[in-house]
Amino acid sequence: MPKITVLSATDRPGSMALKISKFTAEKLIEQGAEAQVVSLEDYPLQDVVGGKYGQDIPSVKAFNDNVLDADGVVMVVPEYNGSFPGILKVFIDYLPFPESFEKLPIAFIGEAAGAFGSVRSVEQLQMICNYRNAYLFPERIFLQRVNKIFNEKDGITDEFSAKLMNSLIANFVSFTDRNKIARS
Ligand SMILES: Cc1cc2nc3c(=O)[nH]c(=O)nc-3n(C[C@H](O)[C@H](O)[C@H](O)COP(=O)(O)O)c2cc1C
Repeated sequence: MPKITVLSATDRPGSMALKISKFTAEKLIEQGAEAQVVSLEDYPLQDVVGGKYGQDIPSVKAFNDNVLDADGVVMVVPEYNGSFPGILKVFIDYLPFPESFEKLPIAFIGEAAGAFGSVRSVEQLQMICNYRNAYLFPERIFLQRVNKIFNEKDGITDEFSAKLMNSLIANFVSFTDRNKIARS
């Protein structure tokens, strides 16, 4: 059974990203994975103020380990100003380099209030994860007009998006399982 972290990629209180992350983790568990949600709301931002690159910061290490102690990661990514949230880049910039994403299966779920469903953010993020040698999972989801097609009670109400989600979940669990020996 693969162990998968679902990363809610924003620190915005009340975000759709966190709600969708919880929904995603439930679906992963239904498919036999062990899943946990980690939110960037809990990132110890105050401990990196001033540019503490290259320093050992226990709170940052603990946060990073919590995300990366997994066979795979699903990133739930909102679109902020045509890109992904700044806190996600801070998180990535403080990860140990170069090994953190090496051969790590990563899947991407974009979600946005707008009509493009965070495609820009996901594609920009994929470039970075590719540079860091992650195993990019090819199925992606872009939840457009997310406030209309997702709610905590009913999940994804748009039939097409729900179908894509079910496919991504099932296939990412087996993709992660197949690749878990290759890490480290
Ligand atoms: C700082 C900021 C910038 C945003 N920029 C965009 C954008 O470029 N395109 C878009 O469709 N929605 C944008 N939104 C709206 C988000 O898509 C909306 O909040 C949605 O619920 C997903 O974000 P969430 O996970 O924080 O809830 C922005 C929201 C914030 C807070």
